[in-house]
Amino acid sequence: MKENKLFYHPRDREIEFFEKAYKLSWPLLLKGPTGCGKSRFVQYMAEKVGRPLIEVACHEETSATDLVGRYILKGGETFWQDGPLVKALRDGAILYLDEVAEAREDIIVALHPVLDHRRTLFIDKTRETLHASPGFMIVASYNPHYQSHLKELKPSTKQRFMALSFDYPREDDEVEIVHKESGLEKTQVEKLVRFSAKVRSLDHLDLRETVSTRLIIAAAALIKEGAPRRASVDCGIIQALTDESETVEALREAAALYF
Ligand SMILES: Nc1ncnc2c1ncn2[C@@H]1O[C@H](COP(=O)(O)OP(=O)(O)OP(=O)(O)O)[C@@H](O)[C@H]1O
Ligand SMILES: [Mg+2]
Repeated sequence: MKENKLFYHPRDREIEFFEKAYKLSWPLLLKGPTGCGKSRFVQYMAEKVGRPLIEVACHEETSATDLVGRYILKGGETFWQDGPLVKALRDGAILYLDEVAEAREDIIVALHPVLDHRRTLFIDKTRETLHASPGFMIVASYNPHYQSHLKELKPSTKQRFMALSFDYPREDDEVEIVHKESGLEKTQVEKLVRFSAKVRSLDHLDLRETVSTRLIIAAAALIKEGAPRRASVDCGIIQALTDESETVEALREAAALYF
């Protein structure tokens, strides 16, 4: 295990559990809302276990070909080009499938043989059977509370993973993270974090997603750059959260109590 260059502030025992899953070659699912630190955690852990990281942002159009690979035509000849899954299997890399629930079912089914003890992929286009190189691991993320698509992972997929639940950090941890990421002094960061905790507790606002750590960092970075505090909260947090003018007003009123 190497010293990490990337900053990651742990919230629980996730580092230990990632290391165990890695050692066991078990796929790992990270569940949690947007901007709470899932990607940062995976980047940090890839560095820590010393494996390359290959990230794939999954969406409705992502096909099995995008993941496995395709033949491409170059100078009148055809070449096989590995997709990220095959590359990760060959190189013993960590494959991070971001928003895996957004992917089409054919992708998920294609993944099953590499997700269980077989750790093998049959590439039908090249007739190749590929065994995972040591170090290969699949990490996937998904957001169980995301309301826009009522997509769920099938139990047969979900149960091939060990899963860690992420949420926004506790207030003192979040102050550390925002301070470190933005460089803004802690007394100022504390106000932003307290305001954000207040917004998170307001159920009646009807926000699709609430204030993420990422948004707090945005506001903190603006203040650190010398922008006025209320305007920074408006630009960094409130306007990014909602387009409803009534909600904007309610959030501005709440912010006025802190800034
Ligand atoms: N525990 C943490 N340690 C260090 N930085 C963190 C931590 N949690 C959040 N961050 C900061 O918050 C930002 C957003 O986190 P990240 O991109 O990892 O979120 P995410 O959960 O992957 O979100 P999404 O679901 O939208 O992809 C990071 O770039 C980092 O600056
Ligand atoms: Mg992410």
